[in-house]
Amino acid sequence: MDLNKIFENNEKWIASKTKDNPNYFVDLNKGQKPDVLYIGCSDSRVTAEDIMGLQPGELFVHRNVANVVNAIDMNAQTVINYAVTNLEVNHVVVCGHYSCGGVKAAMEAKDLGILNPWLRNIRDVYRTHKKELNAIEDEHKRYDRLVELNVKEQAINVIKLASVQRAFRKRDLKIHGWVFDIKTGKLIDLNIDFAKALEEIMEIYRLED
Ligand code: CO
Repeated sequence: MDLNKIFENNEKWIASKTKDNPNYFVDLNKGQKPDVLYIGCSDSRVTAEDIMGLQPGELFVHRNVANVVNAIDMNAQTVINYAVTNLEVNHVVVCGHYSCGGVKAAMEAKDLGILNPWLRNIRDVYRTHKKELNAIEDEHKRYDRLVELNVKEQAINVIKLASVQRAFRKRDLKIHGWVFDIKTGKLIDLNIDFAKALEEIMEIYRLED
């Protein structure tokens, strides 16, 4: 790829943004007040703002391999804390995607070196849902289902943060689990009942002020 193309694209993008509003970037520079925190996969095909039709300033984004939320990942923890406490977003979305290489790698019995500890987060999801997953004979369907269950478990990991629990107590913060289907371009709401999940996990994970 000729990277000069990127800078040419950037000039065109600036022109398109300022065409109707010459102050577009002046306004953008005043600050951000996104209402949604998006936690998704780093996969180059899952372009968060693009697939949702959102503009700069509308989405606070965290992406990593296979949209994992791990308690000792200071990066993810910082993003979530900042979004929930300082930006006061009202929605947290964990969005996985079918054909996720990270999830696929976690299904294989192979030493992947530095990736092992990261992918173990997904192996833990498999172990938690082993009964359901092993009952699915079709390997592709089992893979798709692990993508979905990984979304659910990572979203539950979001609920385990003290700042998120505080936001639940203070206002109507909502957690959502979505999947992007690369084959069709569809964004699918898994309609996970997080109120129920919250009830189930709070017995163990409750963190009061
Ligand atoms: Co992925």
